[in-house]
Amino acid sequence: MIKVLDLKYEEYSQWEDLSDQDLIVINKAKEARNSAYANYSNFKVGAALLLDNGKILTGNNQENAAYPSGLCAERTAIFYTIANYPSAKIIKMAVVAGKDDNSSIPVSPCGACRQVLIEYEFRQKMPIEFLFTGMKGKVIKFNQCADLLPFSFNESAL
Ligand code: THU
Repeated sequence: MIKVLDLKYEEYSQWEDLSDQDLIVINKAKEARNSAYANYSNFKVGAALLLDNGKILTGNNQENAAYPSGLCAERTAIFYTIANYPSAKIIKMAVVAGKDDNSSIPVSPCGACRQVLIEYEFRQKMPIEFLFTGMKGKVIKFNQCADLLPFSFNESAL
């Protein structure tokens, strides 16, 4: 039997089409990107998370001369958030990335980051909205991180 996955996401052609709240979080991610430590790839990424207590926490990619020791913006931001606000729930996360300040290619999160995101989504029993975009232009929005990684490995298997 062949089964087909139905995946729903939203696409916005420009940042101005987003809700005020989404735009605020995206702009925080863009701001955070400026402080990325991406000396080796020159590919800067910023991430921002909105919590149910109203706080917005940010992070960016952190590279290292020993390349695999670096960490993506998404995991830098979410680990910091969970470490400092373990009982808060994450409403949404936005990621802004680009090789240069004019890039309009939405950059989707790597597999390892997706795995980490769904861990916390499972844990908080509430969907985490996920938005990603370049420095301008198209924005992709998922209503839950589980949709970013179908057939994920999670605690229910343990
Ligand atoms: N990177 C992120 O921070 N997030 C992503 O979603 C994709 C890749 C970083 C890792 C590395 O510092 C640089 O971008 C190039 O791969």
